Amino acid sequence: MLVSRLGYITLNVDDLAAAVELFEGPGQLQLNGRSENRAFLGGAGEHHWVELRRDPLRPTGLLKMAFELDKAAVFEDVEKALASAEVNFERLRNFREDFVREAVRFVDMDGTEVEIFRGMAGIAGGQQPKWAQLERLLHVAVSASDFDAALAFYSDVLGFGVSDFIEDTTAFLHASDGAHHSLVLQRRPGAARVVNHVCFQTQTFDDVMRARALVRRAGLELRDDLIRHETSGSIGFYFEGLPEGLGVEFCFEHGTVDPATHIPRTFVRTIRAKDVYEPPAGY
Ligand SMILES: [Fe+2]
Repeated sequence: MLVSRLGYITLNVDDLAAAVELFEGPGQLQLNGRSENRAFLGGAGEHHWVELRRDPLRPTGLLKMAFELDKAAVFEDVEKALASAEVNFERLRNFREDFVREAVRFVDMDGTEVEIFRGMAGIAGGQQPKWAQLERLLHVAVSASDFDAALAFYSDVLGFGVSDFIEDTTAFLHASDGAHHSLVLQRRPGAARVVNHVCFQTQTFDDVMRARALVRRAGLELRDDLIRHETSGSIGFYFEGLPEGLGVEFCFEHGTVDPATHIPRTFVRTIRAKDVYEPPAGY
């Protein structure tokens, strides 16, 4: 596999100050860098999990998904894979601007920048205390206008494994760290890319509840309140974040798979696939 995990995402927003406030407050991230049109927010001692930008020339939403290069891989492997798929890419070493040592960057079939990086900046002294302790950035869920082509690209070219499917409409993809999903692809034929949600994993279930209390106190709308997913086994909740349309999920007990042996399962699309606490139909 070429990548080990989701490292960070870049979001373009209308109001940078409001988005910083949301991710720093209810989002429980730490603001580690800020310029007029850019902000970096991280957790668990890492410089950024979310990069915010204010670029009025581009639509708001997801600009970039960045995955960490697998320890056993080298950038030349990534470049070879991209070249064989006839994808243009560039190699970057702009630590002072990007806060990662080295990266390969390209644009996927839905127009989202994708970066494979290594050497994320760390925060000296680690994370300052927060009310809810976050362990890691876990996954991002995005639409795919040509689901089959996107699935083939991310699995065959970049080497993601499929953990599970919901019918033929959603694919949960894992990287080499085995987290059940680092990337979720959702079938939206012909539609422009939208980012459905981003997910942070907390240290304990109590941290999910602490984050939920902050979100409720801030008066933010809950998209889904305390559900446990069938596929990953995680329990958590979602609130409506920024930019508009982006859900922010906090979860705990997200499962892992063994990338070497895992065989994907396919679930019927029912409410119980989303929330195992729902009784079966007709109960
Ligand atoms: Fe999720």
